[in-house]
Amino acid sequence: MTHNPLPHEAPWWRHAVIYQVYPRSFADQDGDGVGDLPGITSRLPYLAELGVDAIWISPFYRSPMADAGYDVADYRDIDPLFGDLSDADALIARAHELGVRVVIDLVPNHTSDQHAWFQAALAAGPGSPERERYVFRPGRGDGTEPPNNWESVFGGGAWTRVTEPDGTPGQWYLHLFDDTQPDLNWDNPEVVEEFQDVLRFWLDRGVDGFRVDVAHALIKDPELPDWHGRAVMANGGDGETAHTHLGPMWDQEGVHEIYRGWRRLLDSYNPTGDPAQDRILCAEAWLPTQERTMRYTRADEMHQAFNFHFLQSPWRVDDVTEVVEASLVAAEAVGAPTTWVLSNHDVVRHASRLGLPVGTPRPNGIGALEPQPNAVLGLRRARAATTLMLALPGSAYLYNGEELGLPEHTALPDAVRQDPAFHRTAGEETGRDGCRVPMPWTAAAPSFGFGPGKESWLPQPDLYGVFAVDRQQGVDGSTLELYRTLLRVRRQHDLGVGGLEWLDLGPEVLAFRNARGDGTPVTVITNFGEEPVALPEGTSVLVCSGRLHEGMLGQDTTVWLS
Ligand code: NOJ
Repeated sequence: MTHNPLPHEAPWWRHAVIYQVYPRSFADQDGDGVGDLPGITSRLPYLAELGVDAIWISPFYRSPMADAGYDVADYRDIDPLFGDLSDADALIARAHELGVRVVIDLVPNHTSDQHAWFQAALAAGPGSPERERYVFRPGRGDGTEPPNNWESVFGGGAWTRVTEPDGTPGQWYLHLFDDTQPDLNWDNPEVVEEFQDVLRFWLDRGVDGFRVDVAHALIKDPELPDWHGRAVMANGGDGETAHTHLGPMWDQEGVHEIYRGWRRLLDSYNPTGDPAQDRILCAEAWLPTQERTMRYTRADEMHQAFNFHFLQSPWRVDDVTEVVEASLVAAEAVGAPTTWVLSNHDVVRHASRLGLPVGTPRPNGIGALEPQPNAVLGLRRARAATTLMLALPGSAYLYNGEELGLPEHTALPDAVRQDPAFHRTAGEETGRDGCRVPMPWTAAAPSFGFGPGKESWLPQPDLYGVFAVDRQQGVDGSTLELYRTLLRVRRQHDLGVGGLEWLDLGPEVLAFRNARGDGTPVTVITNFGEEPVALPEGTSVLVCSGRLHEGMLGQDTTVWLS
């Protein structure tokens, strides 16, 4: 079906390109081997020049880092590893100066076990109001069995038994993730109020929005019933996916009321309703269908939800066409923009993922990467996939390093792995470290210019040198220059707010026209098949993900034509 363009004054978040900065791995200014906020600030001109509209920064809060910062000990402070609040203020101010908006990560499902609330809950004992902020229950039977059979997403059980203040073995607490990440009790009004206040704290500091971690997990079925599925978060690929595993801990109706409250709060920061002043919420919710996902973006809830359906699509013409169409239909049904995403800090980088044979049960980073990906094929497809993605109407998310075509680090020694999923499964799951390896900036510098020191918190593979920014800058045909061109042309032609009309150019070809009522349409063609495809008469090439061969579009290549 044909999809209509948006009006010219569409708010920024309907079409923004948002770049995810993983703070540990982006740029290290103080030389301790871990990225930091001053490092990010120093590289903001690079991002402005790349042409992104906003950045989303993964958690930078005070944290023991048991899950790389997704275990927050203080939501109102920066971890010393990353800097301090004045560094955050400076980052936000500089980004705004450069015309880049700042979205931060909010982790409301769980805190760190080092959070003052959890420590107080342990000290206060059963029946106390402090325990009511989390999900504490007595064990089954004589108390030695967990309250139900739920498993942690990271492996092992989802309950841990505490020692009571009097030294006896006592209650159990729920943690859908690591045991250092106790789940909050969102039925408690105190929790609701606390997070409203945290939102205000950061809105007052000038942030433009929040990416909401496991947004579909906050409310659990009150009966906490046993469940025989597996609580996976993301499990891309053919066949069984995260989506077939929707248990009583996910997507409960009550979560929506929480987000309605947050939306009202965010809207109160924009009393005149100026679209440029909109602050946004984006849901991270791994759900079975596009329809369930888009319920988080109904008019009075969040602005966006990540489109993991797109990320998880096998690289086949029918699958990709179908997921694009279904995404647009589901978004239109609730009047929200769709988003597009191919990589993030939880999944295998798409330059490697797409180099696996189509049909391999696709790892999500929480699984072993076998067989080894074909790097040349992966990069070719990754460039084609991104070129397709950035031509689609809606908002798009990029993950730091993908603009360099960075592959997954597939040979990290076990001794350096940090992902709790690796440790909780005794190495059965390799975990997500391979997509979190620090960025290469300068090929000839120590740690490839990531920081002044030689070491980085995860070792970089030697091959990252050839992907370094300085090796690609100004180099015709490099992945970095491809991204820059895509973002520039996308903006020139307003592709993010365009309408989409499908074209039929053969069974192995995905093709559409993206047009504004008044502008020149852009024709986008991805060739999935072995047969080269002739470009339509009278068109000229705006940008191509690869090389044309005698004017023909080869396999796994995307072109934009005017
Ligand atoms: C989703 C985050 O993206 C992931 O990195 C984290 O481990 C879990 N939520 C738990 O917070």
